[in-house]
Amino acid sequence: MTKDTFIGIDLGTSNSVVSYVKQGQAHVVEDAEGRRVHPSVVSFLPDGYVWVGAAARDRFLVDGTNTVFSIKRLIGRRFSDDAVTQIRERVPFDITEGDDGLPRISTRKGVMSMPELSAYILGYLKRLAETELGTTVERGVITVPASFNNLQRERTKEAGVRAGFKTVRILNEPTAAALAYGFGKGLRQRIAVFDLGGGTLDITVLNIHDNVFEVLSTAGDTALGGDDVDVRLAELMAVACLKTHNYDARRDRAAMAKLRRYAERLKVTLSEEDSAVLDVPQVAIDDKGKPLDLTVRLDRAGLDSRIADLVERCIKVFDDALKLADVASPNLLDQVLLVGGSTRIPLVLERLTEYLGKSPRQDIDPMEAVALGAAVHAASLGLAADDVSTPRSTLLDVTPRALGIGIVGSITEAIIARNTTVPIEQTRVFTTSYDNQTMVRIPICQGESRQLGENISLGMLELDGLPPRPRGAVHVAVTFEINTDGILEVRAIDRHTGKKQSVRIVLGVTDPHTDATAGA
Ligand SMILES: Nc1ncnc2c1ncn2[C@@H]1O[C@H](COP(=O)(O)OP(=O)(O)OP(=O)(O)O)[C@@H](O)[C@H]1O
Ligand SMILES: [Mg+2]
Repeated sequence: MTKDTFIGIDLGTSNSVVSYVKQGQAHVVEDAEGRRVHPSVVSFLPDGYVWVGAAARDRFLVDGTNTVFSIKRLIGRRFSDDAVTQIRERVPFDITEGDDGLPRISTRKGVMSMPELSAYILGYLKRLAETELGTTVERGVITVPASFNNLQRERTKEAGVRAGFKTVRILNEPTAAALAYGFGKGLRQRIAVFDLGGGTLDITVLNIHDNVFEVLSTAGDTALGGDDVDVRLAELMAVACLKTHNYDARRDRAAMAKLRRYAERLKVTLSEEDSAVLDVPQVAIDDKGKPLDLTVRLDRAGLDSRIADLVERCIKVFDDALKLADVASPNLLDQVLLVGGSTRIPLVLERLTEYLGKSPRQDIDPMEAVALGAAVHAASLGLAADDVSTPRSTLLDVTPRALGIGIVGSITEAIIARNTTVPIEQTRVFTTSYDNQTMVRIPICQGESRQLGENISLGMLELDGLPPRPRGAVHVAVTFEINTDGILEVRAIDRHTGKKQSVRIVLGVTDPHTDATAGA
């Protein structure tokens, strides 16, 4: 074992996995009970203890307001996002708005940000790895959906720092899965990774050439996954509850949270069986103190008809990914890897097989592949520079969204196109638009729309302390870089003085007004 082991973490919406490489072999860390997959749940107990993983998940039904899940669906999103509003309606704990416009969760241990909450999960996984390895772990690779934007990546990286280890790379989940599949095998293939988890869908098309993994395109949906299936089935159960007991569970957050837990069980059973019967004890208590029990019956066809539109959305994303990669037809792919628990839904497999004209590859473990690939890349990053005998992985990934700035008229000017290989940098020169202007503010965003307001606002870029000169006389060259983590870095230089210009990105500013003129 090397003196400093780098770990790979798949920080999932529903489940997380941690791995490491030992003697060239990637391993998944197990907890004391032999669990390899850990629920991404944090529970704050009355006695001050904080539980994470399977133990925390057991507290869902007994202490819902202090048992937090779906953190990844909230991280790096604004409180005002539709996705956040949807989650607020679905969860039993309280989500409020922080000063920075980002969501916070109130627990009995206080009000916490998403990176703080994620850090509990990361810290837990780090400790599990340390126990198994018998050393301290100081560095790791964390995976994120390929479709994560700048803010989501930054906040995930912050979670790593809070958990007490250095995040040496933020790696895209499908790319990690491709590494787990192809590293060290001497392959020459064009493949796609189809990753449908609890909360997100990612599809990535790659070329594998020995140990070089070149991403050709990535497409996804950050709000599509198994959770959506659970919500549909919970609604079905709520309707049954209304019919049976004349009790509207949809108005009762705790009852809905409970129904969703059972809905997930029903869904998983229907992956194996053609029909299922599920008893849900005590959905709620009625006015007279009587517990309301429910029995739900559903067959596979009933499930399929309720989720067909979600599966079609997956196929549409696949089309997007192929188009972006310039691959004319799905049958030009050598392999399609299935990743994520929701690829076990029979309709997903059926529809994909039909679309591809062949069966996707199911021999890689859909729950573990991402973490294993993260460990493989972590091990490569941990190699000494002069170690030329150990094979390394080389990744050429892409940025999932265009990066742009706001110009006059609330229009977006693209700076870096979607699907460009990272790292990449582009420089633009800005001039002042009135006399003695000492500060220039430029909105920056991610997305493909011409309309600034339709893209994801990353914040306001502020160039401060400019020399007071006549309008148009100050020229500042601003370099936008998207690094290998997919994270934006900005630096600026005053063209006259050649001096570094102070630059910062202020979050939470939604005013799309720009007061700079973009030059050549
Ligand atoms: N046998 C099964 N049949 C159907 N769905 C399943 C099965 N097993 C797991 N799932 C679903 O898979 C989802 C979890 O998958 P996974 O652990 O890959 O997601 P995640 O990595 O946490 O999420 P994400 O990648 O979106 O962040 C859940 O919605 C779960 O209900
Ligand atoms: Mg996942």
